[in-house]
Amino acid sequence: MHQYNYWNYYYRATNYIVQPGDSLYLIAKRFNTTISDIKQANNLTSDLIYVGQSLVIPSPAVPTLPDGIYGIGSRGPAVVKIQQALSALGFNVAQDGIYGPKTSDIIMNLQKKFPEALTADGIYGPKTKMYLEKLLASKYKIVQNPESKTVLVNKMNSLSPYYEPQNLTVPNVSFAYPEYRPQKLMQPEAARALEALFAKAKQDNIALNAVSGYRSYDYQSQLFSRNIKANPNANQFSARPGESEHQTGLAMDVSSPSVNNNLTQAFGDTKEGKWLVENAPDFGFILRFPKGKENITGYQYEPWHIRYVGKDVARQIANQNITLEEYLGQST
Ligand code: DAL
Ligand code: ZN
Repeated sequence: MHQYNYWNYYYRATNYIVQPGDSLYLIAKRFNTTISDIKQANNLTSDLIYVGQSLVIPSPAVPTLPDGIYGIGSRGPAVVKIQQALSALGFNVAQDGIYGPKTSDIIMNLQKKFPEALTADGIYGPKTKMYLEKLLASKYKIVQNPESKTVLVNKMNSLSPYYEPQNLTVPNVSFAYPEYRPQKLMQPEAARALEALFAKAKQDNIALNAVSGYRSYDYQSQLFSRNIKANPNANQFSARPGESEHQTGLAMDVSSPSVNNNLTQAFGDTKEGKWLVENAPDFGFILRFPKGKENITGYQYEPWHIRYVGKDVARQIANQNITLEEYLGQST
């Protein structure tokens, strides 16, 4: 199976030999740059490349970060540099050189993304610096349109730790468990669409159960922490906090009694799983992590994870057999 490495995005190089199966799109994505930047750096006039061709890969400029240790109470130009870096990532923070609770909280939330390496104490030190540098060297950014139905959330586009959708509501559908949990919640428009999808399933004698919808940044942080401790490759199936669509309230994991309501790839081979992929677009949902698109979505095949984008976009994505990344014309 395709081995997916989070840090592939951050790999920097100056020279690359085109391999069989390459395209400018894939190369741009791998080196975390854009097609147009590669074309410009190599004076290419078309998108055509050939195997064995040598390409110069432009690397993004990295803002400088200070050495040393800073925490609440620290002041001065070094703190300004840290705050400039946070702003560059898309955080809304004053560049006043005062390491206050806000700066500390942002640093802590960034540290939560890397539980395998960092302690989430809100204190900036050499290790945090290293991870911040990697993020800055990439196209990593905090999503600025979290309310959009077609918002792109993935390994390069993180929701703010402070983003929480408004008016979350429990869809009136069959769930895999009876009691209330916040994970039953969705945004209202997505909840209504899920109800319509489940009603159609019932009509067609298809037994579906909803399993997991909304997850806060902190809940995803706990999940990912647990997963990465159990499995160093957990990021192939579990998102780091901020990088999960579940925080949008537009996603729902769906399963069926035929696979004991488990979130398993075997669901994709059941009649319920096949029905879901066939019918979801008519109700505004896409299968977000399709088989064969792992290197675009960044995650392994998930036949259970559907994402609301609205009917028009969902149908276009399904008809063209593409991912949300491809629809939006962006590399992951
Ligand atoms: N399983 C998907 C990738 C998530 O954790 O959001
Ligand atoms: Zn999911």
